Amino acid sequence: MKIWNLKDRSNQIIGAIDVGTTKICALIGKKKQEGIEILGIGLSSAKGISKGNIIDIKKASRAINEAIFLAKEIAQEEPQIFLVSSAGSYWSSANVENEILLGRTGKEVTLKEVEKVIQGVKAQVDLTGKKVIHLLPQAYQLDEQKGITNPQGMIGTRLKAYVHLISIMDTQYHNLLKSFQEAGVEVSELVFQPLASAVSVLTPLEREMGVVLADIGGGTTDVVIFHRDVVRYSAVIPLGGEHITSDLAIGLRTTKEEAETIKVQHGCAFSHHLSEEDTIEVRDLGSSSLQSISRKLMCQIIEARAREIGTFLAREIRKSGLYRSLKGGLVITGGAAALEGFSDLLSAVTGLPTRIGVPENTNLDGMVQTLSHPMFAAACGLLQLGTFLGSSQDSTRFFFHRQANQGKNFLQQLKDYFMLE
Ligand SMILES: Nc1ncnc2c1ncn2[C@@H]1O[C@H](COP(=O)(O)OP(=O)(O)O)[C@@H](O)[C@H]1O
Ligand SMILES: [Mg+2]
Repeated sequence: MKIWNLKDRSNQIIGAIDVGTTKICALIGKKKQEGIEILGIGLSSAKGISKGNIIDIKKASRAINEAIFLAKEIAQEEPQIFLVSSAGSYWSSANVENEILLGRTGKEVTLKEVEKVIQGVKAQVDLTGKKVIHLLPQAYQLDEQKGITNPQGMIGTRLKAYVHLISIMDTQYHNLLKSFQEAGVEVSELVFQPLASAVSVLTPLEREMGVVLADIGGGTTDVVIFHRDVVRYSAVIPLGGEHITSDLAIGLRTTKEEAETIKVQHGCAFSHHLSEEDTIEVRDLGSSSLQSISRKLMCQIIEARAREIGTFLAREIRKSGLYRSLKGGLVITGGAAALEGFSDLLSAVTGLPTRIGVPENTNLDGMVQTLSHPMFAAACGLLQLGTFLGSSQDSTRFFFHRQANQGKNFLQQLKDYFMLE
């Protein structure tokens, strides 16, 4: 993995590659005074990847190469750095605590102690076969005082850190980097996908008030929960839009391709209000003849699976213990979030006000219209993260973020993380 250093920070052309379960999306952007201009987009279907995990390095690297090639053709620029996002069942997370002694008589906390207590969480969990990707501090305790957001400058005898640790299995980490290497891409940073989506679709107020972000992709639903602008919980649910398509193909006796088209054109996740009369034409499996079926029946098949996704999501929210703190509600993104009625259904199942998150951050410029779909949330968020890395506007401030380290909001934490690794 390429180690980021301060000299590299004058880089202006940034590549962001989101490895999804159905598609690989490559974006190339140019850092501007304010935000970033999108110069190129490339899409390829995620071959050699199943549920977000690499299952064939050769095929995966070809698919990665294809997406980047297309993006470069449009952009006519070569990125100097590449950020990559991924999710899948090989990712895992945990809330971990660690405590260090500062000295019997009390000592002032500096960056050194803060880094030591954060890095020390790695020794508190079994990380056999895992590679730590994110260490996101949540809060600190100094002696008896809890809920400290930045302990630097304070005096105490014991410093405790509460950290959200996100890791990926070593083997998958290797396979991912190898696939990129074979595609001729040196990965600068790897990001857990829903964190990237959070950057492009959540508002700072939502993150502060408490919000669930669910990126509902093809094979997985990736979840991250914020409260007081820090990550409290994350999870990967092994269900997504492709499961809905498979159910439809079986239920309607048709091909997956036909089922996918019907789902996108006529699908709805809330079937009770639909009329019994409406019908749609479906091509029968193994013949070219068309059969007429009730749209309501078709949507009932969709609803059953969509409800299951909602039930799993509600379970994760319960497990987080944060339900009562989620005043910002639920924000759904990822391609499947575009399914008609899905946000209403999820609102009913989880009991949280729900909206669809589309990457619409104003500091993205250029081909924004094309990217105005929830399926591009992660790629857009990654590119935005890349601008923080590539920012040369104020290197001392950037470095200062690392020095100050805590008491920072989520985005600044991510910046810190990149510098710390
Ligand atoms: N308008 C739509 N209605 C229903 N489902 C959709 C729509 N657009 C995309 N999808 C579904 O979104 C899923 C892909 O989402 P995406 O976020 O691109 O996945 P990934 O990032 O995992 O590759 C597919 O299952 C696809 O059928
Ligand atoms: Mg995705």
